[in-house]
Amino acid sequence: MTDHEIKINFKEYASINDLDKPANDLCLEAVKAMANSHSPYSKFRVGAALLLQSGTILHGSNQENAAYPSGLCAERVALFNWGANYPDDPIVAMAVTAHTEEFEILQPVASCGSCLQVLAEYEKKQDKPIEIILFCAKGPVWVMKGVETFLPFLFFEKRLIS
Ligand code: THU
Repeated sequence: MTDHEIKINFKEYASINDLDKPANDLCLEAVKAMANSHSPYSKFRVGAALLLQSGTILHGSNQENAAYPSGLCAERVALFNWGANYPDDPIVAMAVTAHTEEFEILQPVASCGSCLQVLAEYEKKQDKPIEIILFCAKGPVWVMKGVETFLPFLFFEKRLIS
């Protein structure tokens, strides 16, 4: 038997004002993205913004549906837009935020496992890490270098490609 331990490393900032300008700007884009959240069921608004290498910004927001499983998270709305329309312009960073009138969000909302798996797919596809910036209005900011920080055992099998 071998006992393994995995350590993850991420940076915490007190607020988005402590980030460098490109990261701060991206967070403000994630806030803007929340405006188009369609979340009448959960009332939990999520916004995601992707910064592409060219400087293009893509927005995503959670899109819910009366048939609940038909809805989609903000991150995957943004990521699938990238995959469908900008696949040759690598993703540099993704900022994600959330807001609800129902309760206070005091720490960043972590992306769900399905969104992380999609992020992992595209990170492998572009062969460049995607910085992940999670933040909320009344809490700290967490910055991760790439998806493996979150999902060290992510599923990827390169022999399934080609
Ligand atoms: N949601 C996201 O948009 N991203 C996540 O990573 C977690 C959850 C959305 C899905 C649903 O519309 C609402 O938040 C409540 O779960």
